[in-house]
Amino acid sequence: MASAGGRFFGFVIGGSLPVTVAANWLAAAWDQNAGLAITSPTNATLETVALRWVKDIFHLPVQSAGGFVTCATAANFAALAAARHALLGRVGWDVEAQGLFGAPPLTLVVGDEVHASVQKALSLVGFGRERIVRVPVDAQGRMSVDAFPSVDDRTIVCVQAGNVNSGAFDPVAEICRRAHSRGAWVHVDGAFGMWAAAAPARAHLVYGIEDADSWATDAHKWLNVPYDSGLVFTRNADDLRTAMSVGGAYLAQDEYRVPYQYTPDFSRRARGVEVWAALRQLGRTGLADLIERTCRYAGRFADGLLGAGYRVLNDVVLNQVLVSFGSPERTREVIARVQGEGTCWCGGTVWQGHTAMRISVSSWATTDADVERSVAAILRAAAS
Ligand SMILES: Cc1ncc(COP(=O)(O)O)c(C=O)c1O
Repeated sequence: MASAGGRFFGFVIGGSLPVTVAANWLAAAWDQNAGLAITSPTNATLETVALRWVKDIFHLPVQSAGGFVTCATAANFAALAAARHALLGRVGWDVEAQGLFGAPPLTLVVGDEVHASVQKALSLVGFGRERIVRVPVDAQGRMSVDAFPSVDDRTIVCVQAGNVNSGAFDPVAEICRRAHSRGAWVHVDGAFGMWAAAAPARAHLVYGIEDADSWATDAHKWLNVPYDSGLVFTRNADDLRTAMSVGGAYLAQDEYRVPYQYTPDFSRRARGVEVWAALRQLGRTGLADLIERTCRYAGRFADGLLGAGYRVLNDVVLNQVLVSFGSPERTREVIARVQGEGTCWCGGTVWQGHTAMRISVSSWATTDADVERSVAAILRAAAS
Protein backbone atom coordinates (compact mmCIF):
# COMPACT_ATOMS: atom_id res chain seq x y z
CA MET A 1 0.00 0.00 0.00
CA ALA A 2 1.49 3.34 -1.03
CA SER A 3 0.58 5.00 2.24
CA ALA A 4 3.73 7.17 2.12
CA GLY A 5 2.38 8.94 -0.95
CA GLY A 6 0.48 12.21 -1.20
CA ARG A 7 -2.74 10.60 -2.43
CA PHE A 8 -3.26 8.17 0.43
CA PHE A 9 -6.27 9.22 2.51
CA GLY A 10 -7.08 6.01 4.39
CA PHE A 11 -7.65 5.70 8.16
CA VAL A 12 -5.64 8.51 9.82
CA ILE A 13 -2.23 7.74 8.39
CA GLY A 14 0.38 10.43 7.94
CA GLY A 15 3.52 10.05 5.84
CA SER A 16 7.06 10.45 7.13
CA LEU A 17 8.83 13.75 6.64
CA PRO A 18 12.17 13.03 4.89
CA VAL A 19 14.11 14.46 7.83
CA THR A 20 12.37 12.01 10.16
CA VAL A 21 13.27 9.05 7.94
CA ALA A 22 16.89 10.23 8.05
CA ALA A 23 16.64 10.60 11.83
CA ASN A 24 15.16 7.11 12.05
CA TRP A 25 18.08 5.63 10.06
CA LEU A 26 20.59 7.59 12.08
CA ALA A 27 19.10 6.44 15.37
CA ALA A 28 19.04 2.84 14.12
CA ALA A 29 22.70 3.14 13.12
CA TRP A 30 23.53 4.52 16.57
CA ASP A 31 21.67 1.48 17.99
CA GLN A 32 21.06 3.15 21.32
CA ASN A 33 19.01 1.62 24.09
CA ALA A 34 16.79 4.62 24.75
CA GLY A 35 15.28 3.32 27.98
CA LEU A 36 18.21 4.54 30.02
CA ALA A 37 19.94 7.89 30.06
CA ILE A 38 23.25 6.20 30.85
CA THR A 39 23.13 4.06 27.70
CA SER A 40 22.03 6.97 25.52
CA PRO A 41 22.61 10.44 26.94
CA THR A 42 22.09 11.91 23.46
CA ASN A 43 18.65 10.35 23.17
CA ALA A 44 17.78 11.36 26.72
CA THR A 45 18.70 14.96 25.92
CA LEU A 46 16.82 15.02 22.62
CA GLU A 47 13.75 13.52 24.35
CA THR A 48 13.86 16.20 27.01
CA VAL A 49 14.07 18.95 24.40
CA ALA A 50 11.35 17.42 22.20
CA LEU A 51 9.02 16.96 25.18
CA ARG A 52 9.47 20.61 26.10
CA TRP A 53 8.56 21.63 22.55
CA VAL A 54 5.53 19.34 22.38
CA LYS A 55 4.23 20.55 25.74
CA ASP A 56 4.65 24.08 24.47
CA ILE A 57 2.63 23.30 21.31
CA PHE A 58 -0.21 21.77 23.35
CA HIS A 59 0.04 24.40 26.13
CA LEU A 60 0.49 21.64 28.70
CA PRO A 61 1.78 22.63 32.14
CA VAL A 62 5.59 22.91 32.24
CA GLN A 63 5.80 20.54 35.18
CA SER A 64 3.86 17.79 33.38
CA ALA A 65 5.73 14.57 32.57
CA GLY A 66 5.86 12.85 29.21
CA GLY A 67 6.99 9.58 27.70
CA PHE A 68 7.70 8.25 24.22
CA VAL A 69 5.54 5.20 23.57
CA THR A 70 4.68 3.13 20.51
CA CYS A 71 1.27 4.60 19.68
CA ALA A 72 -1.80 6.38 21.02
CA THR A 73 -3.18 3.09 22.31
CA ALA A 74 -0.07 2.62 24.46
CA ALA A 75 -0.28 6.27 25.50
CA ASN A 76 -3.92 5.79 26.56
CA PHE A 77 -2.84 2.70 28.50
CA ALA A 78 -0.01 4.50 30.31
CA ALA A 79 -2.19 7.53 31.11
CA LEU A 80 -4.99 5.35 32.48
CA ALA A 81 -2.46 3.50 34.63
CA ALA A 82 -1.35 6.87 36.01
CA ALA A 83 -4.99 7.84 36.66
CA ARG A 84 -5.57 4.52 38.40
CA HIS A 85 -2.52 5.14 40.58
CA ALA A 86 -3.64 8.65 41.54
CA LEU A 87 -7.30 7.88 42.31
CA LEU A 88 -6.66 4.68 44.24
CA GLY A 89 -3.74 6.32 46.04
CA ARG A 90 -6.13 8.94 47.41
CA VAL A 91 -8.03 6.23 49.27
CA GLY A 92 -4.86 4.58 50.50
CA TRP A 93 -4.72 1.74 47.97
CA ASP A 94 -1.28 1.02 46.49
CA VAL A 95 -2.31 -0.40 43.14
CA GLU A 96 1.22 -0.95 41.88
CA ALA A 97 1.97 -3.17 44.88
CA GLN A 98 -1.46 -4.75 45.49
CA GLY A 99 -3.02 -4.86 42.06
CA LEU A 100 -6.75 -4.49 41.53
CA PHE A 101 -8.00 -7.56 43.42
CA GLY A 102 -10.00 -6.14 46.33
CA ALA A 103 -9.37 -2.53 45.33
CA PRO A 104 -12.12 0.09 45.75
CA PRO A 105 -14.01 0.36 42.44
CA LEU A 106 -13.47 3.25 40.06
CA THR A 107 -16.05 4.60 37.58
CA LEU A 108 -15.05 5.09 33.95
CA VAL A 109 -16.91 7.62 31.85
CA VAL A 110 -16.49 7.78 28.07
CA GLY A 111 -18.38 9.33 25.17
CA ASP A 112 -20.50 7.02 23.05
CA GLU A 113 -18.03 7.69 20.24
CA VAL A 114 -15.03 6.51 22.28
CA HIS A 115 -12.24 5.16 20.07
CA ALA A 116 -11.74 1.39 20.22
CA SER A 117 -8.15 1.93 21.36
CA VAL A 118 -9.37 3.52 24.61
CA GLN A 119 -11.55 0.49 25.20
CA LYS A 120 -8.54 -1.73 24.56
CA ALA A 121 -6.50 0.34 27.02
CA LEU A 122 -9.33 0.10 29.59
CA SER A 123 -9.23 -3.67 29.36
CA LEU A 124 -5.42 -3.79 29.60
CA VAL A 125 -5.35 -1.62 32.68
CA GLY A 126 -7.87 -3.85 34.45
CA PHE A 127 -10.99 -1.66 34.29
CA GLY A 128 -12.82 -3.78 31.74
CA ARG A 129 -13.86 -2.38 28.41
CA GLU A 130 -17.57 -2.90 29.13
CA ARG A 131 -17.65 -1.62 32.73
CA ILE A 132 -18.04 1.93 31.53
CA VAL A 133 -20.61 4.72 31.61
CA ARG A 134 -21.26 5.90 28.06
CA VAL A 135 -22.34 9.49 27.55
CA PRO A 136 -24.63 10.18 24.54
CA VAL A 137 -23.12 12.25 21.74
CA ASP A 138 -24.44 14.82 19.26
CA ALA A 139 -24.53 14.60 15.45
CA GLN A 140 -20.78 15.31 15.23
CA GLY A 141 -19.90 12.70 17.86
CA ARG A 142 -19.26 15.18 20.69
CA MET A 143 -20.18 14.25 24.25
CA SER A 144 -23.41 16.01 25.28
CA VAL A 145 -22.69 17.98 28.42
CA ASP A 146 -26.40 17.95 29.24
CA ALA A 147 -26.20 14.18 29.58
CA PHE A 148 -22.97 14.25 31.58
CA PRO A 149 -23.37 11.93 34.60
CA SER A 150 -22.61 12.85 38.17
CA VAL A 151 -19.00 12.03 38.95
CA ASP A 152 -16.84 11.89 42.04
CA ASP A 153 -13.22 11.58 43.09
CA ARG A 154 -13.20 7.93 42.06
CA THR A 155 -14.15 8.69 38.46
CA ILE A 156 -11.97 8.83 35.36
CA VAL A 157 -13.52 10.69 32.42
CA CYS A 158 -12.03 9.94 28.98
CA VAL A 159 -12.65 12.72 26.49
CA GLN A 160 -11.74 12.81 22.84
CA ALA A 161 -9.89 15.51 20.94
CA GLY A 162 -10.49 14.60 17.30
CA ASN A 163 -13.02 11.91 16.42
CA VAL A 164 -11.54 9.36 14.01
CA ASN A 165 -14.52 9.82 11.68
CA SER A 166 -15.77 13.38 12.01
CA GLY A 167 -12.70 15.07 13.49
CA ALA A 168 -14.97 16.60 16.16
CA PHE A 169 -13.84 17.49 19.68
CA ASP A 170 -15.59 16.82 22.98
CA PRO A 171 -16.27 20.04 24.95
CA VAL A 172 -13.15 19.50 27.02
CA ALA A 173 -13.15 22.79 28.94
CA GLU A 174 -16.71 22.31 30.22
CA ILE A 175 -16.14 18.64 31.03
CA CYS A 176 -12.95 19.47 32.93
CA ARG A 177 -14.82 22.13 34.89
CA ARG A 178 -17.57 19.72 35.91
CA ALA A 179 -15.26 16.78 36.56
CA HIS A 180 -12.71 18.74 38.57
CA SER A 181 -15.34 20.35 40.77
CA ARG A 182 -16.01 16.79 42.01
CA GLY A 183 -12.40 15.62 42.12
CA ALA A 184 -12.60 13.37 39.01
CA TRP A 185 -9.67 12.76 36.65
CA VAL A 186 -9.94 13.82 33.00
CA HIS A 187 -7.96 12.01 30.33
CA VAL A 188 -7.73 13.30 26.74
CA ASP A 189 -7.43 10.87 23.84
CA GLY A 190 -6.01 13.23 21.24
CA ALA A 191 -4.34 10.80 18.88
CA PHE A 192 -4.32 13.28 16.03
CA GLY A 193 -6.71 16.08 17.03
CA MET A 194 -4.42 17.58 19.68
CA TRP A 195 -2.14 18.79 16.90
CA ALA A 196 -4.83 21.31 15.94
CA ALA A 197 -3.28 23.36 18.76
CA ALA A 198 -0.35 24.09 16.44
CA ALA A 199 -2.41 25.92 13.79
CA PRO A 200 -3.73 29.31 14.95
CA ALA A 201 -6.92 29.04 12.86
CA ARG A 202 -7.78 25.61 14.37
CA ALA A 203 -6.53 26.08 17.93
CA HIS A 204 -10.00 27.02 19.21
CA LEU A 205 -10.97 23.36 18.69
CA VAL A 206 -8.67 22.21 21.48
CA TYR A 207 -9.82 24.92 23.86
CA GLY A 208 -9.46 23.65 27.41
CA ILE A 209 -7.37 20.52 26.76
CA GLU A 210 -4.63 21.93 28.96
CA ASP A 211 -7.04 21.71 31.91
CA ALA A 212 -7.04 17.89 31.80
CA ASP A 213 -4.95 15.55 33.96
CA SER A 214 -3.48 13.29 31.27
CA TRP A 215 -3.12 13.24 27.52
CA ALA A 216 -2.40 10.68 24.79
CA THR A 217 -1.36 11.54 21.27
CA ASP A 218 0.46 10.18 18.25
CA ALA A 219 3.47 11.53 16.45
CA HIS A 220 3.17 8.96 13.66
CA LYS A 221 -0.12 10.41 12.45
CA TRP A 222 -0.16 14.17 11.94
CA LEU A 223 3.41 15.02 12.93
CA ASN A 224 4.45 12.69 10.10
CA VAL A 225 7.22 10.69 11.74
CA PRO A 226 7.79 6.98 11.00
CA TYR A 227 5.92 4.28 12.91
CA ASP A 228 5.86 3.58 15.84
CA SER A 229 5.59 6.81 17.77
CA GLY A 230 3.15 8.05 20.40
CA LEU A 231 3.33 10.37 23.41
CA VAL A 232 1.81 10.23 26.88
CA PHE A 233 1.64 13.11 29.35
CA THR A 234 0.39 13.54 32.90
CA ARG A 235 -0.09 16.82 34.74
CA ASN A 236 1.48 15.41 37.87
CA ALA A 237 4.81 13.81 36.95
CA ASP A 238 4.76 11.49 39.96
CA ASP A 239 1.54 9.82 38.80
CA LEU A 240 3.11 8.62 35.55
CA ARG A 241 6.48 7.85 37.13
CA THR A 242 4.99 5.78 39.92
CA ALA A 243 2.54 3.97 37.63
CA MET A 244 5.43 3.03 35.33
CA SER A 245 7.88 2.25 38.11
CA VAL A 246 9.51 -1.12 38.66
CA GLY A 247 9.50 -0.60 42.41
CA GLY A 248 12.60 0.32 44.37
CA ALA A 249 15.50 2.21 42.86
CA TYR A 250 16.32 0.00 39.91
CA LEU A 251 19.09 1.56 37.85
CA ALA A 252 18.29 4.92 39.35
CA GLN A 253 20.20 7.92 38.07
CA ASP A 254 19.88 11.42 39.27
CA GLU A 255 21.44 13.54 36.59
CA TYR A 256 19.00 13.04 33.74
CA ARG A 257 15.36 12.29 33.21
CA VAL A 258 15.42 8.50 32.83
CA PRO A 259 13.17 7.61 29.88
CA TYR A 260 12.00 4.15 31.03
CA GLN A 261 10.49 5.65 34.17
CA TYR A 262 7.75 7.23 32.03
CA THR A 263 6.78 4.36 29.72
CA PRO A 264 5.43 0.81 29.98
CA ASP A 265 8.51 -0.58 28.21
CA PHE A 266 12.08 -0.66 29.40
CA SER A 267 14.58 -1.20 26.58
CA ARG A 268 13.47 0.49 23.40
CA ARG A 269 14.52 2.33 20.29
CA ALA A 270 15.26 6.07 20.28
CA ARG A 271 11.97 7.18 18.76
CA GLY A 272 12.26 10.61 20.36
CA VAL A 273 15.02 11.50 17.90
CA GLU A 274 12.49 11.54 15.05
CA VAL A 275 10.08 13.75 16.97
CA TRP A 276 12.95 16.11 17.76
CA ALA A 277 14.00 16.16 14.07
CA ALA A 278 10.46 16.83 12.83
CA LEU A 279 9.96 19.75 15.19
CA ARG A 280 13.48 21.09 14.70
CA GLN A 281 12.99 21.22 10.96
CA LEU A 282 9.37 22.35 10.81
CA GLY A 283 9.58 24.94 13.53
CA ARG A 284 6.43 26.56 14.80
CA THR A 285 5.41 27.98 11.42
CA GLY A 286 6.20 24.80 9.48
CA LEU A 287 4.07 22.73 11.84
CA ALA A 288 1.23 25.27 11.69
CA ASP A 289 1.42 25.11 7.89
CA LEU A 290 1.33 21.29 7.84
CA ILE A 291 -1.79 21.19 10.02
CA GLU A 292 -3.57 24.09 8.32
CA ARG A 293 -2.75 22.92 4.78
CA THR A 294 -4.09 19.41 5.37
CA CYS A 295 -7.27 20.83 6.97
CA ARG A 296 -7.68 23.14 3.97
CA TYR A 297 -7.35 20.16 1.62
CA ALA A 298 -10.06 18.35 3.57
CA GLY A 299 -12.26 21.38 2.99
CA ARG A 300 -11.47 21.24 -0.73
CA PHE A 301 -12.53 17.56 -0.86
CA ALA A 302 -15.77 18.43 0.90
CA ASP A 303 -16.50 21.35 -1.46
CA GLY A 304 -15.73 19.27 -4.56
CA LEU A 305 -17.99 16.41 -3.50
CA LEU A 306 -20.78 18.66 -2.22
CA GLY A 307 -20.60 20.68 -5.43
CA ALA A 308 -21.18 17.49 -7.42
CA GLY A 309 -24.29 16.76 -5.36
CA TYR A 310 -22.98 14.18 -2.89
CA ARG A 311 -23.68 14.26 0.83
CA VAL A 312 -20.96 15.26 3.27
CA LEU A 313 -21.99 13.81 6.62
CA ASN A 314 -19.79 15.79 8.99
CA ASP A 315 -18.91 19.41 9.65
CA VAL A 316 -15.44 19.50 8.13
CA VAL A 317 -13.65 21.34 10.93
CA LEU A 318 -10.40 19.41 10.75
CA ASN A 319 -8.77 16.95 8.32
CA GLN A 320 -11.55 14.33 8.17
CA VAL A 321 -14.32 14.16 5.56
CA LEU A 322 -17.22 11.68 5.49
CA VAL A 323 -19.13 11.36 2.26
CA SER A 324 -22.11 9.28 1.20
CA PHE A 325 -22.81 8.51 -2.44
CA GLY A 326 -26.36 7.30 -1.77
CA SER A 327 -27.24 3.84 -0.50
CA PRO A 328 -24.71 1.80 1.54
CA GLU A 329 -24.18 -0.50 -1.48
CA ARG A 330 -23.60 2.45 -3.81
CA THR A 331 -21.13 4.05 -1.37
CA ARG A 332 -19.24 0.78 -0.94
CA GLU A 333 -19.15 0.39 -4.72
CA VAL A 334 -17.64 3.87 -5.20
CA ILE A 335 -15.02 3.16 -2.53
CA ALA A 336 -14.08 -0.10 -4.25
CA ARG A 337 -13.84 1.68 -7.63
CA VAL A 338 -11.64 4.43 -6.21
CA GLN A 339 -9.34 1.88 -4.59
CA GLY A 340 -9.25 -0.23 -7.75
CA GLU A 341 -8.54 2.68 -10.08
CA GLY A 342 -5.56 3.68 -7.97
CA THR A 343 -5.26 7.47 -8.32
CA CYS A 344 -5.86 7.74 -4.59
CA TRP A 345 -6.90 5.52 -1.68
CA CYS A 346 -9.86 6.22 0.61
CA GLY A 347 -11.42 3.78 3.04
CA GLY A 348 -14.93 3.16 4.27
CA THR A 349 -16.60 3.60 7.62
CA VAL A 350 -20.03 3.63 9.23
CA TRP A 351 -20.90 6.97 10.79
CA GLN A 352 -23.94 7.05 13.07
CA GLY A 353 -25.63 4.38 10.98
CA HIS A 354 -24.59 5.74 7.58
CA THR A 355 -22.09 3.98 5.35
CA ALA A 356 -19.53 6.53 4.23
CA MET A 357 -16.24 7.04 2.47
CA ARG A 358 -13.74 8.51 4.91
CA ILE A 359 -11.11 10.88 3.58
CA SER A 360 -8.33 11.72 6.01
CA VAL A 361 -5.78 14.28 4.86
CA SER A 362 -2.84 13.72 7.19
CA SER A 363 0.28 13.62 5.04
CA TRP A 364 2.96 16.27 4.57
CA ALA A 365 3.36 14.92 1.01
CA THR A 366 -0.11 15.89 -0.24
CA THR A 367 -0.12 18.81 -2.69
CA ASP A 368 -2.83 20.92 -4.32
CA ALA A 369 -2.36 18.87 -7.49
CA ASP A 370 -2.82 15.61 -5.54
CA VAL A 371 -6.09 16.88 -4.12
CA GLU A 372 -7.43 18.04 -7.49
CA ARG A 373 -6.48 14.72 -9.15
CA SER A 374 -8.05 12.79 -6.29
CA VAL A 375 -11.30 14.78 -6.28
CA ALA A 376 -11.56 14.19 -10.03
CA ALA A 377 -10.88 10.45 -9.61
CA ILE A 378 -13.54 10.11 -6.90
CA LEU A 379 -16.09 12.02 -9.01
CA ARG A 380 -15.31 9.77 -12.01
CA ALA A 381 -15.80 6.67 -9.88
CA ALA A 382 -19.06 8.05 -8.48
CA ALA A 383 -20.39 9.00 -11.93
CA SER A 384 -19.62 5.76 -13.68
C1 LIG B 1 -9.01 9.14 18.42
C2 LIG B 1 -8.03 8.01 18.28
N1 LIG B 1 -7.51 7.46 19.38
C3 LIG B 1 -6.62 6.46 19.32
C4 LIG B 1 -6.22 5.94 18.11
C5 LIG B 1 -5.24 4.80 18.09
O1 LIG B 1 -4.02 5.21 17.57
P1 LIG B 1 -2.82 4.16 17.39
O2 LIG B 1 -3.21 3.30 16.24
O3 LIG B 1 -1.63 4.98 17.10
O4 LIG B 1 -2.69 3.38 18.64
C6 LIG B 1 -6.72 6.48 16.93
C7 LIG B 1 -6.34 5.95 15.63
O5 LIG B 1 -6.82 6.36 14.59
C8 LIG B 1 -7.65 7.56 17.02
O6 LIG B 1 -8.16 8.14 15.92
